[in-house]
Amino acid sequence: MKIGIIGAGHIGGTLTRRFAELGHDVVVANSRGPETLQDLARTTGATAVDVSQAAQDRDLVVVTIPLKNVPDLPQGLLGGAAPNVAVVDTCNYYVQRDGRIAEIDGGETSSAWVARQIGHPVVKAFNNIGAQHLAEHGREAEDPARFALPVAGDDLTAKSTVVQLIEDLGFDAVDAGPLSESWRQEPDTAAYGTDLKREDLERAIREQQPVRPAQFQD
Ligand SMILES: NC(=O)c1ccc[n+]([C@@H]2O[C@H](COP(=O)([O-])OP(=O)(O)OC[C@H]3O[C@@H](n4cnc5c(N)ncnc54)[C@H](OP(=O)(O)O)[C@@H]3O)[C@@H](O)[C@H]2O)c1
Repeated sequence: MKIGIIGAGHIGGTLTRRFAELGHDVVVANSRGPETLQDLARTTGATAVDVSQAAQDRDLVVVTIPLKNVPDLPQGLLGGAAPNVAVVDTCNYYVQRDGRIAEIDGGETSSAWVARQIGHPVVKAFNNIGAQHLAEHGREAEDPARFALPVAGDDLTAKSTVVQLIEDLGFDAVDAGPLSESWRQEPDTAAYGTDLKREDLERAIREQQPVRPAQFQD
């Protein structure tokens, strides 16, 4: 696949490396320009590009930057992407980093907010796993240590593309429902950062209560 990664930090750098290892054609961008990504490009085989080019002709685009910076992404970013491009949002809302975002405080999922900012539907994935675990904990399908990652979204074709990538990276994928239900995998839920096996993750997603933790409420 032709994959564009927007954000080259903990998660973006890890996905760049892992997707390139799987044989995908990967471009990667940050906020400071491709000249600052030469080490990552050299060690992964990915191509560093300006963020304005990161979705160009891509089948899949991953947005993996601090949530507060999503509105700064170039207008029309996805205009040159492949038809039916799948867009993955890994972002999480942390008030300490992102400041207050009124719509999310009001109950909108952070991924629905991202989708509105970029003007394109998103699939929420890779938001609930630490970058180091994403890099190191992929396992073969029959390995008892293999755990699962949730995938939420409304576009079933895009979702199945992301499910396949997750499986290829060495994790089971659990359908966590439509994007409106993606709060079930947001920070401070049972599914967040807990590396659960498939059945446990399915139960965690199903039984999660829609209570915003105190630090988001005050
Ligand atoms: N760290 C984790 O383990 C983890 C796990 C799951 C989800 N997440 C979430 O995933 C997102 C990324 O997290 P991270 O830890 O990978 O972040 P990070 O290490 O802080 O890296 C952020 C990356 O985003 C880039 N960036 C910032 N603003 C940009 C813009 N306007 N255009 C293009 N690139 C921009 C930065 O580029 P410059 O350096 O050039 O500014 C940097 O490469 C966050 O929303 C985070 O909450 C993180």
